[in-house]
Amino acid sequence: MNVIQMYAEALSKQLQAVLSFEEVIKLIEKPKFQEQGDLAFPCFALAKHLRKSPAVIAQEMAPLIQDSLFEKVVAEGPYVNCFLNKQEISKYILQTILAKESNYGSHSFGQGATITIDFSSPNIAKPFSMGHLRSTVIGNSLAKIVEKCGYQPLRINHLGDWGTQFGKLIVAYKLWGNDEAVRKNPITELLQLYVRFHDEAQTNPQLEAEARMWFKLLEEGNEEALNLWRWFREESLKEFSRIYSLLDVEFDSFNGEAFYNDKMETTVELLNKKNLLTPSQGAKVVDLSEQNLPPCLIKKSDGATLYATRDVTAAIYRQDNYHFAKAIYVVGHEQSLHFKQIFLVLEKMGYQWANDMVHVPFGFILKDGKKMSTRKGKIVLLENVMKEAIELAKQNIEQKNPSLDNKDEISKMVGLGAIIFHDLKNERLNNIEFSLEEMLKFEGTTGPYVQYTHARGCSILRKAKVSGEITNGLSDSQSWSVVKLLMDFPATIQRSMQQYEPSVIAKYVIELSQEFNKYYSHVKVLHVDEEMNDRIALVRSVTIVLKEGLRLLGVKAPEEM
Ligand code: ARG
Repeated sequence: MNVIQMYAEALSKQLQAVLSFEEVIKLIEKPKFQEQGDLAFPCFALAKHLRKSPAVIAQEMAPLIQDSLFEKVVAEGPYVNCFLNKQEISKYILQTILAKESNYGSHSFGQGATITIDFSSPNIAKPFSMGHLRSTVIGNSLAKIVEKCGYQPLRINHLGDWGTQFGKLIVAYKLWGNDEAVRKNPITELLQLYVRFHDEAQTNPQLEAEARMWFKLLEEGNEEALNLWRWFREESLKEFSRIYSLLDVEFDSFNGEAFYNDKMETTVELLNKKNLLTPSQGAKVVDLSEQNLPPCLIKKSDGATLYATRDVTAAIYRQDNYHFAKAIYVVGHEQSLHFKQIFLVLEKMGYQWANDMVHVPFGFILKDGKKMSTRKGKIVLLENVMKEAIELAKQNIEQKNPSLDNKDEISKMVGLGAIIFHDLKNERLNNIEFSLEEMLKFEGTTGPYVQYTHARGCSILRKAKVSGEITNGLSDSQSWSVVKLLMDFPATIQRSMQQYEPSVIAKYVIELSQEFNKYYSHVKVLHVDEEMNDRIALVRSVTIVLKEGLRLLGVKAPEEM
């Protein structure tokens, strides 16, 4: 329970007939000035019910609200103001954190219901793009956040492994491909074949027709087409797996677009039965003009299926098999229209659960203000970027702490942590500027700064002779700023879940780090006196919460760096 809830509980005991606990919580405010206390309850809403002025109500109520956690409760005009008992509350919070450890901040409101999270989902035979990195990092964090709230996350990598582009790739490979080259450098080689196809198709339109034919053969299960496709897929997955294992990201399912190949006919039949398909220049579409949206294309004139056909089918499959309470799609905002269409089509099909589908969009990664593009052969290979970050982190550590053990392991945590944190610290819809130098700084709002603060806490604990397990609470104002933040952790997690916004947690761990560093520079933690144990308990609590906060973002917290 946080202090707002505690105050609300004390208040609502007196207000049973008038306001519910939830209503009281919503009314509680933070007073404008510190001298007015820590929490304020305005009595305006009560005036009508009780037929008294708010000021009179406040006067009458204040003396009735009593608890050892409150130092005093006083009326000030129309408000009932509460001054918290710092000593008692810090004791309660620190004890709770030390007892629960990494479970502190967990919720149970998810009640074990399944949330599918469709994230990362790169396209095979193409480089893993910066956009896919964002989806990977945000989706991975959301999975941990929903789990922390008591849901069961189901991580799905909806690989882009089907579509007309594979017709093109097969044609290109048959014309110009080289077995060995592909095996050596699958993604680069396949991308080059793809680019060459587009160049040559400009002067040779026959190629496009051939590509359409090969995709058709693929959809019909032609052996040669399937074998090539399988091989492209496997080689691509090998490359992607290296990225996932570096980032420590796992999936429960790699059922990508191809998985729905044999399930789409049922969808088309269903749409047909429900009279939702309209012919349009030989193609079949679901008309969405009533909703002011362009039609959703379900089948091309040559009978080929589309991205949307697969997404509608996948949604039905997932509801049938996983019975999700929510289905989250972590995909760039440029696909907003696509998801609006998909969700509407499902709604038109009569599926109630269409309302439980959520597109969680995000902005671009920019380099010098421009979108990072993989087209025109200008590829930024993500793996190289990650290696560079690790290398830079190592140089930093080499300078700051040359005697550190297992530098390699820690450089990895810091380099990758920097990339992930940089992605998650701003609201996801913002574009982010990619600068390794910026994100690897040990000061400022970076991952390494939070990691460093955590490591500093750990180092104090190593030096402490006592465990700091027993605490009587602290009452000074320096520690109070830290305790108040620690107290906010559970509610912070809940907010980040409700908004599907890991940045809420990223901002929180930055604030906690800043407050803790202030504390640390003002107070001698290990000075021997009767409060030393409590201060150590505070340090331990901060390290627990920082580590758990970072974990929820997918960032590791080394104990030394
Ligand atoms: N492969 C797609 C792309 O790279 C993203 C897929 C997202 N998930 C989905 N169910 N449509 O654009």
